[in-house]
Amino acid sequence: MSSHIEDRDVPQHRDVAVLVPAAGQGLRLGGGVPKALRELAGQPLLVHACARLAQAPSVALIVVAAPADQVDAVRELLPDATVVPGGATRQQSVANALAAVPAGIDIVLVHDAARALTPPELVESVAAAVRAGHDAVIPVLPVVDTVKRVDATGAVLETVDRAALRVVQTPQGFRRGVLAKAHAEAASEHTDDAGMVERLGLPVYCVPGSDHALKITRPLDLAIAAALLSL
Ligand code: C5P
Repeated sequence: MSSHIEDRDVPQHRDVAVLVPAAGQGLRLGGGVPKALRELAGQPLLVHACARLAQAPSVALIVVAAPADQVDAVRELLPDATVVPGGATRQQSVANALAAVPAGIDIVLVHDAARALTPPELVESVAAAVRAGHDAVIPVLPVVDTVKRVDATGAVLETVDRAALRVVQTPQGFRRGVLAKAHAEAASEHTDDAGMVERLGLPVYCVPGSDHALKITRPLDLAIAAALLSL
């Protein structure tokens, strides 16, 4: 991925809404505040994430699903975003945010606040793939570790061929109608939106992800993110 956005890649107009589910408690990160509000270099992760989204030339609108008791506080942090209350699950938070996207916006990205350092170039690359005709797009990285399938006792069942595996990041991009249909027809809870599209039997297209789009989940990830910021 290039370090800057080429002129030929910039869309004619801002045609993308990004939904940011940020209503989780994020207990694995500790700190006593919702994960999206944990600070990195003096600013909440959510503010880092939205600043990078706003730098992407395609992005017309950012809709944040905030913890229900923090909606006003998040509106103060992000005066340019639309802020709605999140739900009991990530999926419900995404659905709440999707309902706030105005008519006329046809490309919707879903991005976890925890991927706070995601470069604008990755946002553009996902949006461009949707614009080019792919109804569902995910950024992925190769798997570098050996992966084994194990049973509940910890016994190894098999070694999986990692060449065929990918780690999935966000933002995930969708033609709006496809995301809305996936949410309307989802029978169970899914941890990612592309998984819901797969359940509909529709194709999902991969683009190269970014090491900088790491999910800040554990205390070690905060240290890695701080190091990335200082590069
Ligand atoms: O818990 P996990 O790390 O999978 O959460 C992924 C994203 O979904 C986080 O950004 C989190 O804030 C968000 N989320 C949400 N509403 C929930 C649960 C999680 O917006 N009820």
